[in-house]
Amino acid sequence: PSPLPFKLSDIRGSITSARTVIGIPCNEPGEEIYGFGLDPQAYQQKGLRKYLAVCAAVMGKTGASHGPVPFYLSTKGYGVYVDTARIPVVHTARLTTKAASSEQAQKIATSMEELYAPRPAQGRTEVIFEIPGNSCGVDVYVFAGPTIRESVQRYNLFSGGGAVPPLWGLGMKYRTYTKADKATAMNVAKAMRRMKIPCDMFGLEPGWQTHAYSCSLAWSDKRFPDHQAMLDELIADGYHINLWEHAYINPASPLYKPLLPHSGDFLVWGGLVVDFADPKASRIFADYHANELVKAGISGFKADECDNQPLTDCTPFNFPTSTIFPSGIDGEQMLQLYGTYYQRSIYSVFKERNQRTWSDVRATSALAAPLPFNLYSDAYSFDEYLRQLVNASFTGLLWSPEVRDAGSYEELMNRIALASFAPQMCLNIWYMQHPVWEQFNRKKNNANELLPEKEQQRIANRIAQIVNQRYSLIPYLYAGFQRYHTEGLPPVRSLLLDFPADKNLRNVDNEFMFGDNLLAAPLPGKSSAREVYLPEGCRWIEMKSGRIYAGGSKCTFKGAPGDVPLFVRENTLIPFAKPVQYIGKDTCFEITVKIYGDTPENFTLTEDDGVSFDFERGALNTLTLSWTEDKKGSVVKAGAYKGASRYNITGWEKVPLTQ
Ligand code: GAL
Repeated sequence: PSPLPFKLSDIRGSITSARTVIGIPCNEPGEEIYGFGLDPQAYQQKGLRKYLAVCAAVMGKTGASHGPVPFYLSTKGYGVYVDTARIPVVHTARLTTKAASSEQAQKIATSMEELYAPRPAQGRTEVIFEIPGNSCGVDVYVFAGPTIRESVQRYNLFSGGGAVPPLWGLGMKYRTYTKADKATAMNVAKAMRRMKIPCDMFGLEPGWQTHAYSCSLAWSDKRFPDHQAMLDELIADGYHINLWEHAYINPASPLYKPLLPHSGDFLVWGGLVVDFADPKASRIFADYHANELVKAGISGFKADECDNQPLTDCTPFNFPTSTIFPSGIDGEQMLQLYGTYYQRSIYSVFKERNQRTWSDVRATSALAAPLPFNLYSDAYSFDEYLRQLVNASFTGLLWSPEVRDAGSYEELMNRIALASFAPQMCLNIWYMQHPVWEQFNRKKNNANELLPEKEQQRIANRIAQIVNQRYSLIPYLYAGFQRYHTEGLPPVRSLLLDFPADKNLRNVDNEFMFGDNLLAAPLPGKSSAREVYLPEGCRWIEMKSGRIYAGGSKCTFKGAPGDVPLFVRENTLIPFAKPVQYIGKDTCFEITVKIYGDTPENFTLTEDDGVSFDFERGALNTLTLSWTEDKKGSVVKAGAYKGASRYNITGWEKVPLTQ
């Protein structure tokens, strides 16, 4: 056990006429604060005022996002979780009380930026949570480190441990045109197989239903006659099918009548807002999905619009905070929790069937680590997408920086490359009628101005290369997810979790660890070069060239569009799989283990059926890979999984290194 960072009795609490206020000691000049969820704009949180609302749009550095989380971490090593489902305003060590203030030298600023830059307070400070409501207090949890890595792990384990994807969930997801009919959808799915673009998940957008906005959750026979035959064909071709929806239930839905008494008193787009806080409502919703959709072969869902609109939006779709629900849950809390409740309801369907899912959701909240849902957004800033990938790892979130379109070939490839290093890789081509390789410019795509066929082929080939690289790392990434489950360590994570002592990393929000041994630093926007900082504590090997770099140094990486600067931690092993078109029940990956350095640490692969929850009851093997100069490679298998082998280790390759 680690010592607590401060005396718990030093946490201050008070109740004002309208607020519950908590002051948590934060007397750490020179330390930094991270966390608060899927924040698109802020990485370092000290000195900022946060507004932790579930929000569909970016609101500066407030932290309002698709996944605001009242959990933060200090570089001193500890974490603090404030258990509220209301919308707190948080002052992160930015205020000083009169009593605690110390003299501050007054600098004369010469720019607006300087004048209004985040300014951590001088003197004794706190992280102050101002929470609406004054009736029942709030629980505060302190997670001791010793470093933020262990605090993150403890928080995720406290949440229930990280979600483990089905093996196929680590493949590529392609979502097709929103108005696609059966023929268009099938054409895209078939084209990917023909063009050898690996793909495991195929997503249908609103048009699969008779009504969307609000939703009927019933198949449109007009666009999808004999949809079951289509599902069967897609499944036979190795696809897992994901359906778009939201939980606002249209009067035309078979769910309308049963849910009518179990919904809020306001409608959204004419649809019922499900009172998920009532277990009966959640059950009705889940049963419908189980019996009508999952039984028919659907493997996942995408819950859209379960998020709130920003206050600056004068035409919001969300239900008001004053909505009354029969269960008694308050409207503000329901707005914050709608996405989370949805996830729990859908997750129960899969859990009961002993079948894993890898789904999508546009809003979540605290303690989300066990939920197998990936967050996504309509925002599209490359830098924010990259920062969110890093931020997500502090608070148990999965982020899917999806690809929709691009202004140039270079940007398209860099976006696909970024997506390929996320917990979920998704091309969400919902607003273009033709597949992305036929035309990546949205306007031209929809005006049928397609690229010449040769160019289409070039794009498809390059996409296939990038996706193949991801597929080659799936066994490696899968092992990382098993650690997420048992140890709470997220597989895609901030460098601070691995190198907490390196102060140069405190503002590095555009590089991350991908698994235990790889540092990824995607090329932003349409650029073909970038600077990469390599953390102190070990040497790094640039994957493509084999060149060794000292830790604590910077280097410039130059590459082709879609290349991701990748650096391997020296003295490690990485298992590379031969890419496959999709991951079936019987897929056995052919693996070459690459050796980086003379005295590599062991690497442990995990093997199970890849689709059920039997691994939680012990049906899991570990394959420990080790290599020494004299004995060369060896594999030691242990565990109680008795099914077909997932891995065939066919080669060991020592990578030649250059200075
Ligand atoms: C958006 C959603 C997109 C797409 C679209 C379909 O709100 O974020 O990913 O699903 O709806 O209408």
